[in-house]
Amino acid sequence: MQSPNYDPYAYEIHEDPYPVYRDLREAGPVYRNADLDFWALTRHQDVLAAFKNWNLYSNREGVSIDPSSRTSAAEVGMSFLAMDPPRHSRVRRLVSREFTPRRVAALEDRIRTLTKSYLDPLVSSGGFDVIADFAGLLPMAVISELLGVPEADRAVLRTWADLLVHREEGVRDVPSEGKQAFVNIRSYFTDLVADLRAHPNEGLLSALLEMERDGNGLEEGELLSVCNLMITAGNETTTKLLANALYWLSENPSQREVVHNDSSQIEAWIEETLRYDNSTQMLARLMTEETRIHDHVIPAGGLVLLLVGSANRDEAVFPNADQYQISRDTSQMLSFGKGMHFCLGASLARLEARVAFEEWWKRFPNYELEMELAERVHSVNVRGFSRLPVRV
Ligand code: HEM
Repeated sequence: MQSPNYDPYAYEIHEDPYPVYRDLREAGPVYRNADLDFWALTRHQDVLAAFKNWNLYSNREGVSIDPSSRTSAAEVGMSFLAMDPPRHSRVRRLVSREFTPRRVAALEDRIRTLTKSYLDPLVSSGGFDVIADFAGLLPMAVISELLGVPEADRAVLRTWADLLVHREEGVRDVPSEGKQAFVNIRSYFTDLVADLRAHPNEGLLSALLEMERDGNGLEEGELLSVCNLMITAGNETTTKLLANALYWLSENPSQREVVHNDSSQIEAWIEETLRYDNSTQMLARLMTEETRIHDHVIPAGGLVLLLVGSANRDEAVFPNADQYQISRDTSQMLSFGKGMHFCLGASLARLEARVAFEEWWKRFPNYELEMELAERVHSVNVRGFSRLPVRV
């Protein structure tokens, strides 16, 4: 068999990566791309093992493949996502002390109000763009509510967050607009933090600032990095989940029937969407010592990609993995990671999606997507739509 070629930056991979993943898995558990100088783990078992072994598979240069993001300063942008213990444990613990299940659960009513405020004006519209008019708005609004970002500032933050993940065809790195967006976000939060010091509100940022006053909280630079992480991690991923779920249901009429007839299936539909077509397709790790994995020797300092999108389609764990089946057992999916870096926002993302779809279904049970007008994002690891027109 000819060795498959996997280039995470190629536009085709964002159209449909799954046949490529299948070829990679069949060719072997470890894929080597010498031109781009990375190794990739293709099977569920190995991706899971890597997630759990932070000593060997380090996050300290971040989780992105982009050369300019892979530095020892990655934590400036990605906070504790780009740290190993003990520093990771300290910052995550401080943030988790305020980002509690109670604080998340308390957001449900607010999420519902926000959802209704976006969906109600669309009821008699005839049609709209799922991303621009709904799925792109809700996650940023929710994360902003959580942090305590004023409503007036959310649109510009969302534009910057979109620019952070956008990649230009042929540019194998963060484009200059993305770098500028990062600077803008940091400077925005510098001003906001100064403002919140003087006028605290109910949000997570004020709570974290309060901790600082006690002398055992985050330093200002650390807090700004947490803001950046939350805005990037909590926004794009959830937007993509919402639109991917609507897309896959419309592609699978029998599954659509299931949700249409029984709204208690909404949570299972969300889980299967996360498994089947996750917004986060892969995460990078730095190999800390020379290691043999199957028949490859990966040197210390080697860049290893954990192919979450491939692991979630591994037949060894998910029978008929290429079928979208709401009734299946998804408990082994790796869409929120595993181990120490397990997504801090997983329960928030699930809550948002459940509420969003409970309200969606009451209004648009007969939605029809206009796929000829849909567009996908061009990003290196985020998969989903940038435009998804619908008729209602
Ligand atoms: C569908 C939505 C989401 C997906 C698919 C997703 C996926 C992930 C994954 C795979 C990781 C692990 C990264 C790694 O191991 O290197 C992660 C970490 C993280 N996510 Fe999410 N996420 C989502 C939503 C959110 C939301 C809404 C928040 C909001 C607060 C959030 C905050 C975080 C944070 C703070 C981390 C870092 C955890 C750590 O390093 O300890 N995520 N996410």
